Amino acid sequence: MNILVTGGAGYIGSHTVRLLEQQTGGRVVVYDNMVTGHRHAVKNSIFVEGDIFDSARLADTIKRYDISSVVHFAAYSLVGVSMVNPREYYHNNVVGTLNLLDVMLETGVKKLVFSSTAAVYGEPESSPITEDTGKSPTNVYGRTKLIMENAMADYSRSYGLNYIALRYFNACGADRAGDIGEDHQPETHLIPLVLKACLGKTDKLKIFGDDYPTKDGTCVRDYIHVNDLAQAHLLALKALYAGHESEVYNLGNGNGFTVREIIEAAEAVTGLTAPKEIAPRRAGDPAVLVASSEKIRRDLNWQPEYTDIKNIIATAWNWHKGNPDGFAC
Ligand code: UFG
Repeated sequence: MNILVTGGAGYIGSHTVRLLEQQTGGRVVVYDNMVTGHRHAVKNSIFVEGDIFDSARLADTIKRYDISSVVHFAAYSLVGVSMVNPREYYHNNVVGTLNLLDVMLETGVKKLVFSSTAAVYGEPESSPITEDTGKSPTNVYGRTKLIMENAMADYSRSYGLNYIALRYFNACGADRAGDIGEDHQPETHLIPLVLKACLGKTDKLKIFGDDYPTKDGTCVRDYIHVNDLAQAHLLALKALYAGHESEVYNLGNGNGFTVREIIEAAEAVTGLTAPKEIAPRRAGDPAVLVASSEKIRRDLNWQPEYTDIKNIIATAWNWHKGNPDGFAC
């Protein structure tokens, strides 16, 4: 099981790489262009600096390390930015991924675990969301991922690509070791921003909209610990090696929390107060996104370890407290 991890120097990528190294006997090769990744997030793995548009480098890496599967994280993932700069998102997430798929087919690598997103559902017609819930993304980011899910289904039928797409809900938290964690530039995600506000590292936290049809008017999301996501990638890879057919799975905790509830939980964990204010809604934000992850629990026996929101936030706090400037590289 020699695995190429594109985007392995990123947030979810680096946590998954750590688990794959601990739990598989094979080589784990991180392939990252370092646009949003961090060199210090890659600890012991083989590291190749490269872009998913660089077909020659990709093919060379696959051959050199005898790669038999790919976990593909390398993508842009910010909902708000995708609405302002759609071109970058279509280019990187769609054209870049198609390029990776071409190289995989040319080099005979047919196993792929793909990072998808709850954003494919848009404003869901029912809750909790199952994999069969209608897909109608409300933002460009979600559209790019849905396009690629559809393309992979076609490649699976026509070229024998074997993939598992994981639709992440809101990834958060950090490894207990405290040496890797979330560090985006710019940071736009709620939990790191609340913690940074508690640390006095950012301006006032803006609560984007308090007039949504939810219990306190702020958006509801399903927050899932990054190591539980990592575990799902390991299970997905093992399933592919065992001959599992192409499939799509939701990955969430099944519990929804409003923005205000997250802020309260973070303040309880830190013992600090985050300066905050109400701001207008952010474009592209659905009111409620909560997952049913029954399918992956049933099919792959995935069991999240972190179910309590304060425990999850405590791991993020451990990282942010110890690394207030992130990786500083
Ligand atoms: N929010 C604020 N203020 C902030 C930041 C966020 O109020 O400063 C709110 C957002 O409006 C949203 C919630 O907090 O209601 C969570 O926002 P995040 O930016 O943390 O996360 P998103 O839900 O927008 O998106 C994340 C990932 C996506 C993924 C999605 C799936 O970034 O890749 O979860 O639920 F698609």
